[in-house]
Amino acid sequence: MDTTQESLQQKYRLIADRHGVAWEKVFAPSFEDRLGELERCLADTRVPFPIPADKAEQYLRAARSGQPFRIGNLSDLTVDLGRYANAQQYDSYTFEQNLSWACLIAEQQRSKHRYACREYLHGEELFQIGGTVIPDFYLLNARIYQQTLWQLATVNMIIPAELFFTCHSRRFFPVTTFMRALEQDYLQEPDIGHDVAGHVSTFTIPVVAQLMQSHGVARNMIYQERDEALALTDRPERREAIERRGDELLLYAERIYWFTVEFGLVLQDQEVRAYGAGILSSPGETKFSIDSNRPTRILIDPLMDRDLLRLATTDYLISEYQKTYFVIRQFDLLQSITPERIVRIAKIASQLPHFSWRDLVPGDHVLQVGESAVSTNEKYLRLAFHSLDTHCEQGDECLTRTAIRNLRIFAKKPSASDELSERFGSQIPSVPAGIMDWFVPRDTAGEFTQQTRPLSLD
Ligand SMILES: [Fe+2]
Repeated sequence: MDTTQESLQQKYRLIADRHGVAWEKVFAPSFEDRLGELERCLADTRVPFPIPADKAEQYLRAARSGQPFRIGNLSDLTVDLGRYANAQQYDSYTFEQNLSWACLIAEQQRSKHRYACREYLHGEELFQIGGTVIPDFYLLNARIYQQTLWQLATVNMIIPAELFFTCHSRRFFPVTTFMRALEQDYLQEPDIGHDVAGHVSTFTIPVVAQLMQSHGVARNMIYQERDEALALTDRPERREAIERRGDELLLYAERIYWFTVEFGLVLQDQEVRAYGAGILSSPGETKFSIDSNRPTRILIDPLMDRDLLRLATTDYLISEYQKTYFVIRQFDLLQSITPERIVRIAKIASQLPHFSWRDLVPGDHVLQVGESAVSTNEKYLRLAFHSLDTHCEQGDECLTRTAIRNLRIFAKKPSASDELSERFGSQIPSVPAGIMDWFVPRDTAGEFTQQTRPLSLD
């Protein structure tokens, strides 16, 4: 071994020690060992959904042939991933990637056992996600299917929401195959640490799995309505507006998913616990979401349209830890979020002004006021005063784009403010005096076109 290799090994050992990982356990099982384990798993009949012998045989044959895992084929459903299709080349994972997995899992285990809800920890035991090497997707997919009827579909990058939810409607969960760099706690794009170590255990919480599928069905409803409308017109500008509206409705549906499946908290034994995969895949955010004074925590009742609308109308950023977390009182309340309700709430959200991830809304049941919390009209002041004087703090991108979106709505429909207050059952502060007169001519002159997503307001 030359000096470079020696110093690299020493570096790895130090990192492993720092995370409490047993160095000698970080080695990937051989092809034969993995096949043996898979064979035993497929033959297991003491599971909720045993795999039929013919399917098991076909599955094992594919694994034995050495072809990499692409998409689960244990059910009669599949999904076309198009240019996002990928495969897990298990033997090409490097030692460093496996060590990165082992360190992340070790850190996650510490934070999860302190902060995750009971059901999530139970799910982890079922899938044996822990461990010191990256899981083999053939084996993991079979285990997931036996417990939940969900399967894995490998993708090569973050995929469009439309495809993501199409997968959900058929009980496929898209998973990436790359592993984050050693000791990286948080990253914007999902990796195996997020998709597998974060999401997979949540499938065993039946209401969470149901909520995920409901979002898939909601996506189908939104796009079916879009396609029916498209069939009635050839006018390019009308077709463009219809397509934009479909995408926009899905965006608001996606926010409900974001604040529950990805970043949801739940009350358990009078303590706040995490069940969101986005939280639990990051040891740092796990602690932050529950213990820190910086974010706001709001108790919501998913049975109430007002609270569901609060989720659908709240914008957020993915570039850092969340500013607001929503806490549900108990899991079974998630059952009330049916596909029909998701679509209905998304449609209402499309007509209303929205909130930024830092806004406190009158009527919120606030458990903790975060240090970065602001009143709902502060975003307008920051937008205007920053434009007039660049020494004034602008606020983040979320505040800016929410402010611009809302001001455009108010310009088109002054009654939107009353509608918002009516929907939320409390008086939402109106836009400060003078702001509209400042905003409208600038927007007409195109000053804000680069800063916002498309808005369709019928
Ligand atoms: Fe996720």
